[in-house]
Amino acid sequence: MELQPDSSHTPQEKISQFISHVMTAVSSCSLYSEKHPVVAEFAGKMLALADELYAEDSLNFTLVGESFIVNDVPFVEKGLHIANFIKRFRKKKIDKVVFKKAPDLEEMTGFIIGMASREKVASTAHVSVGIVEVRLRGADATPASLLDDGISKVRETLHGVSRFRQLDMIGLEDAVVDFLAVLKKELNVLRIVSPVKSHNEYTYVHATNVSVLSIFQAEVLGFTGEALRDIGLAGLLHDVGKIFVTNTILDKPGKLDAGEWDDMKKHPVYGAMYLAKLSAASPLAAIVAFEHHMKFNGSGYPDTKRIGKKQHIVSQIVAIADFFDALRTERPYRKTLEVPLIAKMLQEGAGKDFNPELVGSFLVSLGEVMGREQ
Ligand SMILES: [Fe+2]
Ligand SMILES: [Fe+2]
Repeated sequence: MELQPDSSHTPQEKISQFISHVMTAVSSCSLYSEKHPVVAEFAGKMLALADELYAEDSLNFTLVGESFIVNDVPFVEKGLHIANFIKRFRKKKIDKVVFKKAPDLEEMTGFIIGMASREKVASTAHVSVGIVEVRLRGADATPASLLDDGISKVRETLHGVSRFRQLDMIGLEDAVVDFLAVLKKELNVLRIVSPVKSHNEYTYVHATNVSVLSIFQAEVLGFTGEALRDIGLAGLLHDVGKIFVTNTILDKPGKLDAGEWDDMKKHPVYGAMYLAKLSAASPLAAIVAFEHHMKFNGSGYPDTKRIGKKQHIVSQIVAIADFFDALRTERPYRKTLEVPLIAKMLQEGAGKDFNPELVGSFLVSLGEVMGREQ
């Protein structure tokens, strides 16, 4: 598809438009699938716009700090798509992309799919992608501001989610990258897990805290890289099945009656089914959603004891994080508990409710960070 050159727009406006085409295509890829017609349509639009932007037969995007140099000229426009494009570069550890005259539709679509996927973006004959070896996001940001960034991404994403609307996995993955960066800077995890200030904050603050506490445990156990990110995401999404439970039950100030409790206990199955259908989510997230209320000894729910199903180690990690955060948080029916008391309860549950080795490792590392403060 050819677009006519449009002389009424400045080069900066055309670059903005190019970036917004990339991001629209990337989010369509994540929300629907890479084969969705919108993806090819926007790849076509990108090709047409690139034709107007080539300087000496190439179009270069170089990320420098918080902004781009495009064809050797600083790009000063701001906007949501541009901010998200920069975040994508960071997340994919890309510092430069060069489009050489002229990619075909397949190469452009491949670039979009690469940007949307969890894999490294591969270079092709006409699209060269420069990857930085190690770039820690937000090297100069404070832990508090990184955490705020992460929590607002979780809030925005979980706020819009419903049984009718798919999750924006990009927003959640970016939030996990923020949490990883926070944990690198602030070693005391208890300073990171934030208190719930109001009732309607509970959903996303709890999701955040469980994610952070799961990453904290997993790092100590030696998980790194992509696996650590997947664990953080699984922690964020463990309770996503609650979108299928009515608010009357979720918000009930008192104890649930037997029927309500039965409904509530379905959220792991609902969550697993919802996540299993999401192509952008890792299979681990669905497993953890299904298993986070199972116990180490096979009891708990869903009832899988008779088929002898054992909890995945990441579900065991998330179960400890979930228990810890639930007790640390004040709920309408219960005051918050102090850390030493929760530690004692975890120890009592070790071997029955929780994997004893994971409890041991968690309490030792928690003790270390708390001891360091004194
Ligand atoms: Fe749950
Ligand atoms: Fe939970």
